[in-house]
Amino acid sequence: MKIFSEIKQITKNIERLKLDNQTVGFVPTMGALHAGHLSLVAKALADNDVVVVSIFVNPTQFDNVEDLEKYPRTLEKDAALLKTLSNAILIYAPTTNDIYQNNVVSQHFDFDGLEHEMEGKFRAGHFDGVGTIVKRLFEIVTPDNAYFGEKDFQQLAIIKKLVEKQRIPVKITGCTIHREANGLAMSSRNTRLKPAYKKAAPFIYKTLQAAKVKFGTESATKVTEWVTKQFAKQDLLVLEYFIIADIETLKTVKRKSNKKKYRAFIAVYADDIRLIDNIALN
Ligand code: PAF
Repeated sequence: MKIFSEIKQITKNIERLKLDNQTVGFVPTMGALHAGHLSLVAKALADNDVVVVSIFVNPTQFDNVEDLEKYPRTLEKDAALLKTLSNAILIYAPTTNDIYQNNVVSQHFDFDGLEHEMEGKFRAGHFDGVGTIVKRLFEIVTPDNAYFGEKDFQQLAIIKKLVEKQRIPVKITGCTIHREANGLAMSSRNTRLKPAYKKAAPFIYKTLQAAKVKFGTESATKVTEWVTKQFAKQDLLVLEYFIIADIETLKTVKRKSNKKKYRAFIAVYADDIRLIDNIALN
């Protein structure tokens, strides 16, 4: 298992692989790996000759300093987990300096409005930060294929847009959400949940499933009102948003059309930990 921390080292290795006509799969992560990440890596291993996993907690995508500081950093454990899948994975765990060269700022992007919906409304500058780091990592790793989880569905849509608009030659694959047995979407943040909040959190997915059933017969507005009421009855979970959106534009649906595909998106605070999830509705 090779761990690289410098651009020079990783690019030299990748150049050698490319000269050898090997295909490169890439899974960008912020570490604290869980079964959801491992499923992305397993898919990448099945599709490519070699796989690069980046582990980097990207400062420019955090709008909250405390969240950035508390984000779990578990490189040794992550490397051991990846080793259980394959010894041939290349880990790229750069320093902030290596990536940002003393200039820790985001580039500004126009993602055709996708960046202004949902997470974009609640996390200022988040998608500029994500666009900046993913573009930089794509330049360094030059992957043929890259894999992202659908838990961050809006991020996935934005990365597809980034690749299209910047003409980056990489195929983006979205992978289904991995869940705990109780339905809670896997997230590196789950490890920070205190026991009472951990017990309460599966309510998020239960409510999404019930909302999906309701959406079969009721309007998006009615379903949204119902979800809001369910969370108001909860002591421990605070709803930030619940939105039913068109999966192409990510805009909130006003009137349903059976020609369009919709998804419900949710963000909830469990104590100071922000959890997001989503579900396909039709
Ligand atoms: O989804 C994540 O873990 C991050 O947003 C990503 C894509 C690795 C960029 O820092």
